[in-house]
Amino acid sequence: MIRSSAPGKIFLFGEHAVVYGEPAVAAAVDLRATVTVEERDDDSVRVSAPDLGINSASLPLQKLGRGHPDHPELDYVFRSVAEMDVSLGVDVTVESEVPVGSGLGSSAAVTVATIHALARFTGRELSRGEVARRARSVEVDVQGAASPTDTHVSAHGGANIVHPDRNSHESVALPDVEFVAGDTGQRGSTAELVENVRVLKDRHDTITDIIHAMGRLTEEGADALERGDTDAVGELMNVNHGLLEALGVSTPLLARLVHAAREAGSPGAKITGSGGGGCMVALDASGVADAIAESGGRAIPLEPDTEGVRAE
Ligand code: PMV
Repeated sequence: MIRSSAPGKIFLFGEHAVVYGEPAVAAAVDLRATVTVEERDDDSVRVSAPDLGINSASLPLQKLGRGHPDHPELDYVFRSVAEMDVSLGVDVTVESEVPVGSGLGSSAAVTVATIHALARFTGRELSRGEVARRARSVEVDVQGAASPTDTHVSAHGGANIVHPDRNSHESVALPDVEFVAGDTGQRGSTAELVENVRVLKDRHDTITDIIHAMGRLTEEGADALERGDTDAVGELMNVNHGLLEALGVSTPLLARLVHAAREAGSPGAKITGSGGGGCMVALDASGVADAIAESGGRAIPLEPDTEGVRAE
């Protein structure tokens, strides 16, 4: 039996703009997806994902590419098995602490952990970079488009600035901070939100300026993180939230949770991920989690993860 786990993430700066080649900063957090792989004595792939209410969904090894007709949410797992060219039947069990579709990187965490576990199962040693590359290719296959941010951060851990235009990334030092996410319980579709932004951008030239501004803000945010200037980090998170509002990806509940967190003393609060529901994230201060809960969100305390994907 082989078991691997990988962390979820928060976007500190730059979601949506990263789709257009601007940099983004994301940090791995201490919520993990854990994937267990066991050999079977037939040539089918059987997946169980108790957190998704799925006891068992099977496909023959030869038919993984099309995915499971009743369980599209397992596409990431079946496509990962196809990506890794596994030639034996396997049982794959997925357990995840990362809420699904919440902007906390659950699909990347599951995909990175699955690729890592399958590499070990088939006796291959992949670098973190190679795990991230293969996981991103699975995400692109399943979603149609995906920036390298989530899979990179989940594989490497820590906070990273990702430059898709240069195909490069650097780690960014995180000051001694804690975060709290506020889950709206509402679920947006990343593909739809990315498409809405594209339509808005095609209609108004100003949106291109906003996207460039987000890129510059991300660079400033990364510098503020490196300097340990938490106040500047918070201010820039607040500005980033305003720009995400301008792109139309906020919701009344997300906005309420962001403002409740700031009023309770958080130096910075913003949407994390694609928006349209999902989560906001705030720099933590005492009382912020309570304020989020009182305003109708589920508060999730988060600490940075520095390990990335690992064998369990
Ligand atoms: O909501 P999430 O965690 O899937 O993040 C989406 C972030 C976008 O920038 C909107 C898309 C992407 O692929 O980076």
